[in-house]
Amino acid sequence: MKILIVGCYGQLGRELTEILNSGMADIGKIDDRYIGAEVTGADIDTLDVTSEFSLNNYFENLRPDIVFNCSAYTNVDKAEEDEKTAYAVNATGCLNLAKACNSCGAKLVSVSTDYVFDGEKTTPYVETDTPNPKTVYGLTKLQGEIFIAQNLKEHFIVRTAWLYGKQGKNFVRTMLRLGKERDSVTVVNDQYGCPTYANDLAYHMLKIALTEHYGIYHCVNNGVCSWYDFAKEIMYKAKLNCVVKPITSEEYGAKVKRPRFSALENDRLRKTVGDQMRKWDEALDSFLKEIEI
Ligand SMILES: NC(=O)c1ccc[n+]([C@@H]2O[C@H](COP(=O)([O-])OP(=O)(O)OC[C@H]3O[C@@H](n4cnc5c(N)ncnc54)[C@H](OP(=O)(O)O)[C@@H]3O)[C@@H](O)[C@H]2O)c1
Repeated sequence: MKILIVGCYGQLGRELTEILNSGMADIGKIDDRYIGAEVTGADIDTLDVTSEFSLNNYFENLRPDIVFNCSAYTNVDKAEEDEKTAYAVNATGCLNLAKACNSCGAKLVSVSTDYVFDGEKTTPYVETDTPNPKTVYGLTKLQGEIFIAQNLKEHFIVRTAWLYGKQGKNFVRTMLRLGKERDSVTVVNDQYGCPTYANDLAYHMLKIALTEHYGIYHCVNNGVCSWYDFAKEIMYKAKLNCVVKPITSEEYGAKVKRPRFSALENDRLRKTVGDQMRKWDEALDSFLKEIEI
């Protein structure tokens, strides 16, 4: 089996690579069918998803069986000012990947976001809820989903949220740094979602990819919290003496308004490969044990 990980230097890409190389995720062994798989990682320096020509050449040479798309333009604030680049990576990149997979008969597992929803719901979003993105990032990610669905039958779109992994920049790393530098931090308490450990997500992506249950999946750690709750738990579990103070999004003054409530429900996962996603605070525990605080 030939596997290609696109965006392999991102936090999810690295987690997926590590699991495939070791055969183990934090929550368990991966399927035996992955043993002996030829795993290739590529990122923007070797495979730019925005270039259809180089992507097609790359795919013709490699002829992968399964492609995991972990590449993305993920900076929500910057995307508002640089819509062209965000669209090129998140939308056109997915179109190019879907077409290339179609030509060589590969399955595509592509990752999307909770920000495809507007945040007006009060219970977790299921896969059949209608997206209504309010940010350029969310709009470009949704267009990527649409392009994939239109161009490749053998696709899995996996929406996740509030992602953190062992490598790269993320909210947990930022809180750990601030927790050591400061006596207190202010964190927004009016946006709710599902913090998700990239290792748990990668494990489930590998499970989904071996099936023929194509389509959209939600895959997040279970439970819902605010960024403030999340920050408090990080400080507590890391034994950092830093007080977390709640503020509103308005007080925080972010350039781009995020959804108020973007929790996802792993409905399809539960009905297909099973939902082994841990509760968000258990996953956080496991993550903190893996890294040097
Ligand atoms: N992070 C979150 O909180 C979050 C939440 C919900 C959903 N997601 C989704 O989860 C997935 C993984 O996110 P992540 O946090 O692992 O992202 P990440 O750490 O930002 O990694 C994305 C990777 O894609 C690369 N990339 C950018 N443009 C590219 C191009 N044109 N061609 C090939 N590679 C390119 C990036 O390279 P550079 O670093 O050089 O740009 C980076 O290595 C994404 O689909 C994201 O939208 C993330």
